[in-house]
Amino acid sequence: MDKIVIKGGAKLSGSVSASGAKNSVLPLMFSTLLCDGEHEFSNVPKLADVHSACKLLSELGAECKHDGTNMSISVSKAPSIEARYDLVRKMRASVLSLGPLLARYGEAVVSLPGGCAIGTRPIDLHIDGMKALGAEIEIKNGYVIAKGKLKGGNILFDTTTVGGTENVLMAAVLAEGVTYIENAAKEPEVVDLAEYLMKMGARIEGAGTSIIRVEGVKDLKAAKHKVIPDRIEAGTLLIAGAITGGKVRVNDCVPEHLDALMAKMREAGFKFEVGDNFIEVQECQAWKGIDLTTTPHPGFPTDLQAQFMALMTQAAGSSVITESIFENRFMHVPELKRLGANIQPKTRVAIVKNIEAPLKGAPVMATDLRASASLVLAGLVAEGQTEVKRVYHLDRGYDDLEGKLRSLGAQVERRADDQ
Ligand code: UD1
Repeated sequence: MDKIVIKGGAKLSGSVSASGAKNSVLPLMFSTLLCDGEHEFSNVPKLADVHSACKLLSELGAECKHDGTNMSISVSKAPSIEARYDLVRKMRASVLSLGPLLARYGEAVVSLPGGCAIGTRPIDLHIDGMKALGAEIEIKNGYVIAKGKLKGGNILFDTTTVGGTENVLMAAVLAEGVTYIENAAKEPEVVDLAEYLMKMGARIEGAGTSIIRVEGVKDLKAAKHKVIPDRIEAGTLLIAGAITGGKVRVNDCVPEHLDALMAKMREAGFKFEVGDNFIEVQECQAWKGIDLTTTPHPGFPTDLQAQFMALMTQAAGSSVITESIFENRFMHVPELKRLGANIQPKTRVAIVKNIEAPLKGAPVMATDLRASASLVLAGLVAEGQTEVKRVYHLDRGYDDLEGKLRSLGAQVERRADDQ
């Protein structure tokens, strides 16, 4: 198992490019199950989650070839319609096979993913959505067993769910008749999925708004698509520059996808230069603590909460950070405290206070993907050496984060962890 070793203190500068979005490429990969043919994607990041998706797809009749940032997925009739527990538990996004398999074959068997480090994360809303499209669903031995010829229907989600919206959207494109998804997630990744589905021949209106209308079609054709840039990775890199007081430009991103982050960083005192496809955070020696609450898009993303908290450990004054999406997403707090941060976690709220002395390097443990990123960021400003262990979490969702940080002047390396 590897660890990331960081020597804190370097001020980052320079430019770096964002990779393709993890949360876009995964649903896109599962959408290929909707029709046979050769699907082609570009700007595909190299991530452990992408590899896991390939593995599951290969059991479902789809062969993935990942070459650099290009991926082709060749789909033929599925030899199996089952997403096994072993694969789903490793990567929750595997539940996105439910909608496409059910829509295409009239049946699907998908393991329940179970909880994860950041909360219980049920899939009840995905299941309700499939039922609203006419599926019969049984939960047996830890599996969702879904059957039925899908018909258009109306779905109103109680809670905004990104995965639920994507799963139902993929099911509805082949259902007979018209489907309305209300209180739909508006995340850019939902829009990216809808774009690809439309390239395949789906009829979708309103993606990116809270009401999506889908008119079912009889069949779809494989197409080509460029994955949108990863706004969470781009945000992490901007915070990396900011936390070191440096000037860092992130190229190949979509600035409007990062409006909520920039608004909060501006409130704290940071300034940006923003172009059509880049954001540059300017040097800033001192910033203040501000309050924030994570909310669905276009609000502040939960996936940047841990990284922003690292930034707030260096602020003058206190900040109150409220996590409204997941019930247990403060796993980074005890680890940040090991570095000397002054944080008081309550249920779903963390109060980050001024610290008199700088953070001090220490060995820390990554607990989930974004928590790992937050620890790496804190390590960039901690005195001495920080070791972030269990980096497999980081590898699930960041394409060579340490290489990108190194190119900006950070002293970061990956080493085998023999303990
Ligand atoms: C996706 C992202 C994840 C991000 C999250 C919120 C992917 C692969 N992952 O996860 O990085 O942190 O959106 O922006 O795109 N919920 C239910 N029942 C359900 C589904 C969700 O109660 O059936 C709850 C969840 O527990 C959570 C909230 O709804 O509290 C939002 O979750 P959701 O938007 O579905 O997250 P994911 O799609 O799993």
